[in-house]
Amino acid sequence: MIKIIVPATSANIGPGFDSLGVALNLYLTLEIHEETNFWVVDHDFENAMPHDATHFIVKTALSLAPNITPHHIIVKSDIPLARGLGSSSSALLAGLAMANVLADLKLSDELLLEHATKLEGHPDNVAPALFGGGIAAYYDGLRLYHAPLKLPDFVDFITFIPNYKLLTSAARAALPQNLSFKESVAASAISNTLIAALYADDFVTARELIEQDHFHETARADLVPHLAVIRRIAHDLDITGTYLSGAGPTIITIVPKNQSTDLLLALSKANLPGQIHRLQQDFNGLTIMKEEK
Ligand code: HSE
Repeated sequence: MIKIIVPATSANIGPGFDSLGVALNLYLTLEIHEETNFWVVDHDFENAMPHDATHFIVKTALSLAPNITPHHIIVKSDIPLARGLGSSSSALLAGLAMANVLADLKLSDELLLEHATKLEGHPDNVAPALFGGGIAAYYDGLRLYHAPLKLPDFVDFITFIPNYKLLTSAARAALPQNLSFKESVAASAISNTLIAALYADDFVTARELIEQDHFHETARADLVPHLAVIRRIAHDLDITGTYLSGAGPTIITIVPKNQSTDLLLALSKANLPGQIHRLQQDFNGLTIMKEEK
């Protein structure tokens, strides 16, 4: 049996729209079992999700290697769907990795990432899901550039996952068509300074800049009312570092561990409609294990 494990991811991290992302410790696990005549996909997602070759993971695998033999596969995941935690990127990478293994394509991580980015359109979820940790990346439609993003090791990612879904397509439809020159310069300066502050271990500056995005959060505010609510709760505790995870609706606050309990308590008292998790960075990224069975 072959097991492919892919972490969840949180994209944007405030001002790093379509570029910054971090892997977090929720996981999608794909088990590849025996060969079969037709693809059989067992999963514990909603019933509407297919159990055959039309399942997203199989379709993604076949897009890379159309001739692979059908198998019985089992998909388990604790990454909630359509919540801004990279569930589709993790599934996409799992499919590509399955094709790479079953068709013995021997594609490098770099080629897998290029392929995944082309399918996804932007690298901010697939890159950290593949490599683990934080990643800064840029895809110009032809070439992909990426570098590790240093994030502090003394923090938790306090994550509020609302009870409702928000499709990335809907959240992207809310984005502005244009930004003025002045606003673009500000947006890029904030992102540059955030990354420099992180490299200088200046988390005090970094956590303020995380809240100053100009690219997407304002445009999406009506879709994600809990962003303002959670920021206010955190500010009442003198905690900054709250942002919209990916296209939402999940909200994350990056908090020094010694402030996590205070924020968790305040959030649970607020009775918000969703789940609250205390997550950490995943540093492994996509992992493949072969087990004798
Ligand atoms: N950067 C993307 C967005 C992540 O915010 O739309 C979701 O795919």
